[in-house]
Amino acid sequence: MRILSGIQPSGTLHIGNYFGMIKKMVESQDDGELFAFIASYHALTSLKDSEALRTNIFEAAVNFLSLGLDPNKSTFWVQSDVPEVLELYWFLSNHTSMGLLERAHSYKDKVAKGILANHGLFSYPVLMAADILLFDSDVVPVGKDQIQHIEMTRDIANTFNVTYKKELLKLPVAKVDEEVATVPGTDGAKMSKSYGNTIDLFATPKQLKKQVMGIVTNSTPLEEPKDYSDCNIYKLSKLFMNEDELALLRDKYATPNMGYGHFKLDLLDAITRYFEPYQEKRDYYMKNPDEVRDILSDGAKKARVVAKGKLELLREVVGLC
Ligand code: ADP
Ligand code: TRP
Repeated sequence: MRILSGIQPSGTLHIGNYFGMIKKMVESQDDGELFAFIASYHALTSLKDSEALRTNIFEAAVNFLSLGLDPNKSTFWVQSDVPEVLELYWFLSNHTSMGLLERAHSYKDKVAKGILANHGLFSYPVLMAADILLFDSDVVPVGKDQIQHIEMTRDIANTFNVTYKKELLKLPVAKVDEEVATVPGTDGAKMSKSYGNTIDLFATPKQLKKQVMGIVTNSTPLEEPKDYSDCNIYKLSKLFMNEDELALLRDKYATPNMGYGHFKLDLLDAITRYFEPYQEKRDYYMKNPDEVRDILSDGAKKARVVAKGKLELLREVVGLC
C-alpha cells in the first residue's frame, strides 16, 4: 500500500499540523510505503518572499526528520525537485471543470478572507491531484479541511480514466483521524498559521510560553470553580496529557482559587515534555544542513524514477508520443 502526503512550507509548523498530519504520517511508515514531500510549488500561492520560502522548506524538512520521518524507510523530497508533477497538472487541468474548482471550500475561504484570487490559488487542487495521482497513491492521510481535495482528486482521475477508457489513474482514499481532526488554536478557532493563533513546533521556551499564556479563556472569577468542558486549555491539554494527568487537571478546574494561569503552566509543561525527545535530533539537523539536503536530494531521485515512469505512459496515452 502506498501512502502519500505533503505539507506546504508556507510558514512555521504548528501543533495542529503535527497532530493533524505529521504524526499520522510518521506512524504510517509502519503500515505501508510512505511517500512524503514538502509542497514547495503549492506554497508559492501564498508566499512571495524567496528567502522565507527557502528557510521554510529547510525547516519543514528538519522538523519532519526530527519528528520521526525515516528516509531509509520512506521517500521524502521537495515537490519542486520532481518537476514532472507540473506536466501531469497540465494534463489533469484539461479534465477539470471550472465548476468543480469553484466549489472548493479552501479556495472560497481564502478569497472570503481577502487573499487575492489568482489562477495558482484557483487551480491549487489540480496540482494536489497531480501530486497524488503521479505516484499511484492508495491512501492520503490529511486533516478534515483537505478531504474535499481528495474527493476532487478522485473526480478528476475518474474523468481522465473515462476519457481514455482505461484505469490509468488510481483513485486514492483520504485517511482522517476523527479524534484529532481539528486542533483548536489559542483563540479557539481552528489552529492555522494564517490566523495567528498557533502554538509552534520547536518554538523557543520563551515563544512557547508566550503562545500558551495567550490562550483565550472565559472570565470566570478566580474564586469560582471553572468549567473544563469547553475550555481551550483543556482541549489542548487532551493532546498532551494522559488520563491520570487529565483527571488531576479536571480536579484543579473544580477547585476555587485555581486560575487559568495555573492550567496554562501545566499545559506548557506537558508540551515541553512531549517534544523533548525530538529536540536533540532537531538541533543536530539544524547544525548539519548538508546532510538534510543530501537526504532530500536522494529522496527526489527515488521519487523521480516513479514519476518519469508514470509520465512516459501518460504522454503516450494522451498522444504526445
Ligand atoms: P495552516 O492551516 O496552518 O495553513 P496547512 O493548511 O498548511 O495549515 O495544513 C497542513 C496540514 O496540517 C494539512 O493536512 C491540514 O489538514 C493539517 N492541519 C492544519 N491545521 C490543522 C488543525 N488545526 N488541526 C488539525 N490538522 C490541521
Ligand atoms: N494541500 C495540502 C495542505 O495544504 C498540501 C498538499 C499538497 C498535499 N499536495 C498534497 C497533501 C498531496 C496531501 C497530498 O495541507
